[in-house]
Amino acid sequence: MDILVTAGPTREHLDPVRFLSNRSTGKMGFAIAQAAAERGHAVTLVAGPVSLPTPPGVTRVDVVSARDLLAAVERLLPAHAALVMCAAVADWRPAAASARKLKKAEMRPVLALEPNPDILRTVRPLKGGRLFVGFAAETGDPLAEARRKLADKGLDLIVANDVSQPDAGFAVDTNRVTFLTAEEHAPVALPLQSKLDVGRALVAWLERRAAAAPHSASQASPETA
Ligand code: C5P
Repeated sequence: MDILVTAGPTREHLDPVRFLSNRSTGKMGFAIAQAAAERGHAVTLVAGPVSLPTPPGVTRVDVVSARDLLAAVERLLPAHAALVMCAAVADWRPAAASARKLKKAEMRPVLALEPNPDILRTVRPLKGGRLFVGFAAETGDPLAEARRKLADKGLDLIVANDVSQPDAGFAVDTNRVTFLTAEEHAPVALPLQSKLDVGRALVAWLERRAAAAPHSASQASPETA
């Protein structure tokens, strides 16, 4: 199967040296890309600014901002049977960006922002029979928010994780996630495990879904599907 994975944060520049971003390190998305490549899938990994090596056998495309990420996903999606949106996309960007470093005296104490595009919603018309997977990193009630995002973004699967716990979420090598799908109402809570093992569980889910509905995973190549 040709699998498109996004990972890491985006950076929303105010000038060449200042930006808005978030705590994502890319570890979860890179682990999914590695797990998929290990299973023989053709993987394209669109990565925001992170300091991680590219997993063996994975084709990597680097991006900076949410708009760069959207452009890359729109360009690459047609050749892929599954999209795994693990990137922590910045919801807002500065309303104005300067091409040169702003001087302190030129800056205001309040930053004007404008919303970034929602990538999953924007590419939804291109979904066709592709499998779409999203992530919901929450600090409140992860399942309630995840259920809302599953429906709102038209996903096949959403992976919910509570990022308020020290052994799960940002910048650690382990994660504790719950899989929620549109069809099966019961959430599946996975135990605390390495991000690579979470990636393997996610790839196994994609393989099962593609096998259950081979007509819908239209881009899946017969030798790897
Ligand atoms: O940020 P949020 O919790 O809404 O993210 C849920 C899912 O939506 C994630 O899979 C994320 O990659 C995706 N997303 C997106 N475009 C955005 C923000 C989030 O596709 N602008």
